[in-house]
Amino acid sequence: MQGVFITIEGVEGSGKSTQLLRLSERLRRLGLPLVVSKEPGGTALGRELRRLLLERHASGETWCSEAELLLFYADRAQHLETVVRPSLAAGKIVLLDRFEDSTRAYQGASGVAESALDRLSELVLRGLKPHLTVMLDLDPEVSLQRVEVRNLALGGEFSETRFDQAELEFHRRVRNRFLVIAQNHPNRVALIPARNPVDQVAASIWVRVAPLLRSAGFGVD
Ligand code: TYD
Repeated sequence: MQGVFITIEGVEGSGKSTQLLRLSERLRRLGLPLVVSKEPGGTALGRELRRLLLERHASGETWCSEAELLLFYADRAQHLETVVRPSLAAGKIVLLDRFEDSTRAYQGASGVAESALDRLSELVLRGLKPHLTVMLDLDPEVSLQRVEVRNLALGGEFSETRFDQAELEFHRRVRNRFLVIAQNHPNRVALIPARNPVDQVAASIWVRVAPLLRSAGFGVD
């Protein structure tokens, strides 16, 4: 039996983590075989990359976009090899917090050429595609405000407590790239407005996830 591959994507502050938790809890309650993971961070290499990303922020060093790109793909190659492919081969549902679309949106918005992304993607993914990508859409004007509020209260891992105009512009470009991906892959990507209340967003996600799992032979009723 082949597993089911689901990714969840969106700009910072779009409610990705909350929705991922809601969905994974629901699938667990149903007793389904589930693997939840994230990029970067799903392997020891990925956790090391997260640490490097954090230190990069702390040290103020600017990485050239190609170096950053190769690090994200190194993480992805390791994650696919050790977590994603074996879990799918074992017939499990694999739920990932960020995947390839994040690279296309973030590194694309940092100026990496589409052709470079295509070549790396071919090398690392070898044709593997998610069955479904849940893309939470929110205007960065709103999402970054959410992040600011959260980080003031909790202290954030990656994000500052205030975003300047240049960062807002960057996140606008990221969002637009996510929207273009959704437009170009209407069968794979479920574009879900993330401005709505948490329960409503969770319900919209379930409307897309349940039939996919049913068609793969999982009991979700
Ligand atoms: P994420 O773990 O979602 O951040 P948070 O802990 O705030 O939820 O993502 C970490 C950061 O890495 C985020 O700013 C997006 C970025 N990223 C890329 O730039 N390219 C990629 O390929 C991936 C997977 C993430």
